[in-house]
Amino acid sequence: MEDFVTVARSGELPEGTGSTFTVDGRLVAVFHTAEGYRAIDDLCPHMGASLGAGHLEGTTVSCPWHAWRFDVCNGQWVDNPKMKVSSHEVRVAGDEIQIRLSPEEADG
Ligand code: FES
Repeated sequence: MEDFVTVARSGELPEGTGSTFTVDGRLVAVFHTAEGYRAIDDLCPHMGASLGAGHLEGTTVSCPWHAWRFDVCNGQWVDNPKMKVSSHEVRVAGDEIQIRLSPEEADG
């Protein structure tokens, strides 16, 4: 089981925005939604754009390149729910935003 890794302090990621962090060598997009922080893989499965740089609306992020939309709560591709990117656990400890990679991604 991987440990949680601190990626930012809570004030560094305003509500309604996202950003990209490296966690154990993996690029993870972290979003601050009205429901709290959410984390999914950063690389868009279409052509590899950074989802952390996408536009966040509610709990949906639009890829900055061709606007594929993903649910940041579970990584599902909104327009084709059979496909998804990995989602990761997020917690806030004190004022630190911490990520733990999902188990199937922790080894890779
Ligand atoms: S690279 Fe994300 S939609 Fe094309």
